[in-house]
Amino acid sequence: MKLLVVVCVLAVASTEMVMKGYPKPMTYICNFSDDLCGFHSNITKLEWTAVSDKDGRYLKTEAKGDLDKSAVAISRCYSVTNHYLCLAFRYSITGSSDNKMTIQQKGGDKSQVWSSATSSLNKGWIEEKIAVSLLPLQRKTQFVFTAFLGGKPGNSVSIDDVTLIPSTC
Ligand SMILES: *[C@@H]1O[C@H](CO)[C@@H](O)[C@H](O)[C@H]1NC(C)=O
Ligand SMILES: *[C@@H]1O[C@H](CO)[C@@H](O)[C@H](O)[C@H]1NC(C)=O
Repeated sequence: MKLLVVVCVLAVASTEMVMKGYPKPMTYICNFSDDLCGFHSNITKLEWTAVSDKDGRYLKTEAKGDLDKSAVAISRCYSVTNHYLCLAFRYSITGSSDNKMTIQQKGGDKSQVWSSATSSLNKGWIEEKIAVSLLPLQRKTQFVFTAFLGGKPGNSVSIDDVTLIPSTC
């Protein structure tokens, strides 16, 4: 927890703190084509990988054995100015019915947890938008993407086009 806060502060300091006063509302887009846009793990190794196929380049995690119960990917730390944000992304979930993904805002309202529906399983890419609201005076946010793979080989979760928009959805 402490380490992540430090990482968050450093990332912001190096890229965005150079702007004086209130930065302009900004849209952050990540399609994983060039890099992971700061997506990282809270353990040593990120259990998601950027893969390329006919669907382009995206971030994926897959259970290879029964120890692969869950995989966490934490977004970069976003500097924000608007109180209401929209987190848009595409995702694909394959495998058994207990496989799902949750997204939680780190440090924000802990009760805001999005969870993929069972009906999204094996349906290919699905577009989703999540309304995000911040705490008063909150100027940074970060999202935790967790894949609950259940240790069943074949279960996979993929995400792409992760976009944080400075407005309501
Ligand atoms: C991915 O985003 C980069 C800029 O971040 C853009 O140049 C590129 O065209 C995008 N690729 C796709 C497939 O959308
Ligand atoms: C990583 O984050 C997830 C989700 O917040 C948490 O369940 C897990 O315990 C964390 N792992 C470590 C090693 O901190």
